[in-house]
Amino acid sequence: MGKIIVNGGNKLTGEVSISGAKNAILPILAATVIGGNESTIFNVPDLRDVKVMEKILLSLGCNIKRIDKMMWVDSKPLNSTKIPDELVREMRSSIILMGAMLSRCGEVVISYPGGCEIGPRPIDMHLKSLRELGAEIEESHGFIYCKTEGLRGGEIQLDYPSVGATENIMLASVKAKGTTIIRNAAREPEIIDLQNYLNKGGAKINGAGTSVVTIEGVGELTDIAYNTMPDRIVAGTYMIASAITGGEIIIKNVIIDHIQAIIAKLREAGCLIYNDNNSLKIIGPKRPNSIEMIQTLPYPGFPTDMQAQMMALLSIANGTSIISETVFENRFKHAEELIRMGANIKTFGKVAVIKGVKELTGAKTSAKDLRGGACLVLVGLSARGVTEIENVYHIERGYENFHIALKELGADIKMVD
Ligand code: UD1
Repeated sequence: MGKIIVNGGNKLTGEVSISGAKNAILPILAATVIGGNESTIFNVPDLRDVKVMEKILLSLGCNIKRIDKMMWVDSKPLNSTKIPDELVREMRSSIILMGAMLSRCGEVVISYPGGCEIGPRPIDMHLKSLRELGAEIEESHGFIYCKTEGLRGGEIQLDYPSVGATENIMLASVKAKGTTIIRNAAREPEIIDLQNYLNKGGAKINGAGTSVVTIEGVGELTDIAYNTMPDRIVAGTYMIASAITGGEIIIKNVIIDHIQAIIAKLREAGCLIYNDNNSLKIIGPKRPNSIEMIQTLPYPGFPTDMQAQMMALLSIANGTSIISETVFENRFKHAEELIRMGANIKTFGKVAVIKGVKELTGAKTSAKDLRGGACLVLVGLSARGVTEIENVYHIERGYENFHIALKELGADIKMVD
């Protein structure tokens, strides 16, 4: 299994261009099954999670061609309704295939999903909402059996603006009879991307990006060509690579609006950030300022997917910072690794208190999840000496050529088997 080795201390400089968003392409790929049509999708990132989704679509009978960043999916030949167990276990987001497959075939069998070890991550809202649209769902021996005589529109009030549940409902109701209204929907930009993809094929969805999404069921979907939005979390991660090394990086292909919460906190930490339409320059401070309070929240609040990377930066800040993680339970596993590198962090349930130290020292560490893994690479960039990060496969779920891009920016970094 791959290991990243970083020799810390280099300031990062140069340019990096941001790839397509993992959290946008996954629901879009799930959506390709709905229409029995052809989708040509551009700006598809080369990620482990995308490969898992590709394997799932192939196993269901879809035809797929991939050339560089383009993926062509023909879902006409789809001939199975069982999502392979071993692939679902590799990626929790495969759960969004439930809505898409119910819409296409009227049935689907899927096992309970896996994914990041960041808390219990239940799927009760997904199941409740799909039932409200007319799905019959039975859970038995770790499998979820769903079928329907025909989905029908309904009014769904989510208890929490869950990203995955909002997407699942959108996917299920695209071709349902009548209109579906989702209230307290998640407002993440990736949901707008899913709406835009589906509407290109003739779906009638409105309101994505707000807390009320309306889906008017349609009969057919036509062939679709679509360009995936850039990954705001990857952009934020490179911003911290600049911030933590006192570097100067230009980040291209980024939608500034999507990262306002990250920009605001990095300015508080002392970074200089200049932006134009879809690129920005970030100059890291000599030593970051501490930040009184960061609370992770659903969009447009500070993203939970940037919490670990922010903790990396604050671990060497001048002063004490507090992070309150409100979205997921048990999302501080990276703190233990940072402490082994000399960080002064105390966690109390969903709150972490980070007393900045001048410098961390390289150590052997292990990625426990995707963003926690990125956090360890980031601290490795600034730590004294050599940091080893094991279990790099977690990082490869969401970052394309991470160590190569960092090396091009001047990091002393390599990957070994
Ligand atoms: C998505 C993102 C993930 C991000 C998260 C929050 C994808 C592929 N993944 O995950 O990177 O960290 O949004 O921005 O897009 N919950 C329930 N019951 C449910 C569903 C969710 O209790 O039925 C809870 C979860 O346990 C969690 C919270 O709601 O505590 C938010 O989860 P959700 O927004 O659904 O995240 P995901 O869609 O899994």
